[in-house]
Amino acid sequence: MSSDESPRRIVICMGSSCFVRGNNRNAERILALAQEAISRGVIQVSGTLCQNKCKQGPNLEVDGACHCGVDAESLPQLLESALGTARVPGA
Ligand code: FES
Repeated sequence: MSSDESPRRIVICMGSSCFVRGNNRNAERILALAQEAISRGVIQVSGTLCQNKCKQGPNLEVDGACHCGVDAESLPQLLESALGTARVPGA
């Protein structure tokens, strides 16, 4: 990452609905898959409270774009396509 490049931002909804629908596991998986990119400051991961889109959950945002219904199958592809330039190993 060059010094003028902003980190990609992943915001995970940790509201109760998204949490029990799968963001508990998604959070763990993101931290595991993107660990190296996170440690290099290429990716920033944070959590947020309910965003009032519970029925579409589990939800997370990548650079402000909401992704709904993210599950164990779609998460690696989402990371790959959204963060491909950050080179997420194993995603
Ligand atoms: S708990 Fe995630 S949108 Fe409501």
